Amino acid sequence: MSSELFTLLPERASTFAWQVDALYLLLVGLSVFFTVGIMAVIVYFSVKYRRRSADERPAPIHGNLPLELAWSIIPFFMVIGIFALGADLFFRLYRTPADGIDIYVVGKQWMWKIQHPEGKREINTLHVPVGQVIRLTVTAEDVIHSFFIPAFRTKKDAVPGRYNTFWFEPSKVGEYHLFCAEYCGTQHAGMIGRVYVMEPEDYQRWLSGTAAGGEVTGQSMAQSGAQQFEQLGCQTCHKTEPGGRGPVLVGAFGHPVELASGETVVADEAYVRESILTPTAKIVKGFQPLMPTFQGQISEETLAQLVEYIKSLSEAKK
Ligand code: CUA
Repeated sequence: MSSELFTLLPERASTFAWQVDALYLLLVGLSVFFTVGIMAVIVYFSVKYRRRSADERPAPIHGNLPLELAWSIIPFFMVIGIFALGADLFFRLYRTPADGIDIYVVGKQWMWKIQHPEGKREINTLHVPVGQVIRLTVTAEDVIHSFFIPAFRTKKDAVPGRYNTFWFEPSKVGEYHLFCAEYCGTQHAGMIGRVYVMEPEDYQRWLSGTAAGGEVTGQSMAQSGAQQFEQLGCQTCHKTEPGGRGPVLVGAFGHPVELASGETVVADEAYVRESILTPTAKIVKGFQPLMPTFQGQISEETLAQLVEYIKSLSEAKK
């Protein structure tokens, strides 16, 4: 935590934090410049051009083309410049890199439940290694929450029924605030936590359970997912070789899928999740809509495990 008595901005602890601050300070600077400048001119003109006698009549004005062009064109380029800077940063913030550590976050009234791919789970804390891309997939069980880490200058809504993915790269070891930034009921204000940015070797030690905090499950998310896959009977249709009633899942993840509707979609986390909960939404070409829905039968945590399992089926093939 900052030891300074008064700070305007929270600590900067991610790679893009300073970019967010730079843009913000530029906007503040421009606002201050124009507020002060316009006020100064108003005061100056009201003194300089004050009415000096009761029968003084100002000369009529019929416009001034160069002046009017200047006050249209200069602000035009200024706001386009602000738009360009903002859009550039937005794309950097919300275009998730292809590689990184995938961590699943589920928001519910009123806690954050987090699963690491290696199987470690935690509540209201998030442990991450420094200097690596962290990809978070967030969803919610009940209402909309919002996962907010001010020190990383990033925030993403956790929406029921949807996977939202975002990323950050912590740049500084330390302990940071985690908030819910969307009013979600009585104890919204209590839906807070801590983010611990650790040295990679400390993170590995934490993952293997020798350090305090978090629940050790003894198996990776993919392994838990494989168990669920079997228990739910998925393998009766999704066989490892073609010929089953459902599509082969080995090697499917991350690749384009041709649908019966003629469309093509990429089999990403959201697609897998939707296909489990609403199998009829996107039928794969050449298959019948036979699969029953698992809506209401499996929790978001289990869903994430199944997603990781299906993902692992493609990684093994690489
Ligand atoms: Cu969850 Cu506010």
